[in-house]
Amino acid sequence: MKTTTDASPSWPENLSAHGPSCTDKLHRPLRDLRISVTDRCNLRCTYCMPREIFGRKFIFLRHAELLSFEEIVRIARQGIALGVRKIRLSGGEPLLRHGIERLVEMLAPLCGEDGKPIELAMTSNATLLAKKARDLKNAGLGRLNISLDALDETTFRRMCGSRNAPIGAVLEGIAAAQATGLTPVKVNAVVKRGVNEDEILPLVHHFRHTGIILRFIEFMDVGLSNGWRLADVVTAREILARITAEYPLRPLGPLCPGEVAKRWEFADGGGEIGVIASVSQAFCHECGRLRLSTDGKLYTCLFAGEGTDLRDMLRARCDDGALRQHIADVWHERGDRYSQMRQAMTWNPVGKIEMSYIGG
Ligand code: GTP
Ligand code: 5AD
Ligand code: SF4
Ligand code: SF4
Repeated sequence: MKTTTDASPSWPENLSAHGPSCTDKLHRPLRDLRISVTDRCNLRCTYCMPREIFGRKFIFLRHAELLSFEEIVRIARQGIALGVRKIRLSGGEPLLRHGIERLVEMLAPLCGEDGKPIELAMTSNATLLAKKARDLKNAGLGRLNISLDALDETTFRRMCGSRNAPIGAVLEGIAAAQATGLTPVKVNAVVKRGVNEDEILPLVHHFRHTGIILRFIEFMDVGLSNGWRLADVVTAREILARITAEYPLRPLGPLCPGEVAKRWEFADGGGEIGVIASVSQAFCHECGRLRLSTDGKLYTCLFAGEGTDLRDMLRARCDDGALRQHIADVWHERGDRYSQMRQAMTWNPVGKIEMSYIGG
């Protein structure tokens, strides 16, 4: 398979008009901060936390090892001062973190240098969402992306590696997110060959005309435990061929530079749909995402092997200026473009970090 880069617009020339800019070695500004608030999850998706590895004996982080909400907010503030405009809370399953609404409440009022509030979003499996959606909205959460790989219960449970996984609760969670205005709600479906590609059309059919944006994701080689094989990747091209055979699509342009999903609309007005093709069409050239792990390490790429610890610095009572400078230094040193390099495999994958820990 040929790995290509897409031709969507680059970052504007006049970056200062878009807030402060801290750029990396490839001139990419820091724009998104993805924060993992827990390394735990109540599901065991085969592509993320396979049960054989994340079983009873797996040792998760202890509470004292996690960043406190106050520590997370301190880092977020300095990220914003360096140009971050979007914060996404993830995990693991973020709704498992006790008191998560309080963290949302603390982050929601933060504004960029332009005085505009940052965008605050969350990625969740929605199993616990139905009861929490209202509180999250009241706390100031902007929107939610929800993982759902199949509508057929057997296939859903196979994908999420849990015999009793409650698909009903997930669908209720999606409905609650929409009803409380955590919109636009996006549904993420990872596609694995031989497991759920026959769910593509039922999912499309289910979410058309609902206002929910369904996005299909190519199965990625994140971490070292998900047994990734190129042969298991159903490419964006194949996914789109299946959809367009039934529902003609028209391409939509990106809403902002650096978006992970290519957007499409149904020709008949059925709404928007997206495909995230990080394997077949790398989007590293516009990637402005910094990741903060549950225990306070910064990772400059989803596929990074090593992070930079901030927790010790915070707990040694460093001042905000030093913290900001440290984050800026990490970003200035960044040259990651793993997806673009994947095919050449010049990267030694021995130390790749797991997604549940780094925060998708
Ligand atoms: P939006 O702001 O709604 O576009 O969110 P998002 O798509 O950035 O976040 P989400 O958590 O929903 O992620 C969707 C998929 O994109 C997941 O499979 C992520 O792992 C993947 N993804 C997000 N950011 C990156 C990235 O920087 N690199 C790669 N390779 N994949 C990414
Ligand atoms: N490949 C592609 N997407 C993945 N996700 C988790 N692991 C993988 C993988 N190996 C997705 C989840 C979730 C988002 C945060 O990342 O489905 O929606
Ligand atoms: Fe949990 Fe999300 Fe990973 Fe599935 S993809 S195991 S729901 S963190
Ligand atoms: Fe960004 Fe790394 Fe993903 Fe490329 S592979 S888009 S550099 S996180």
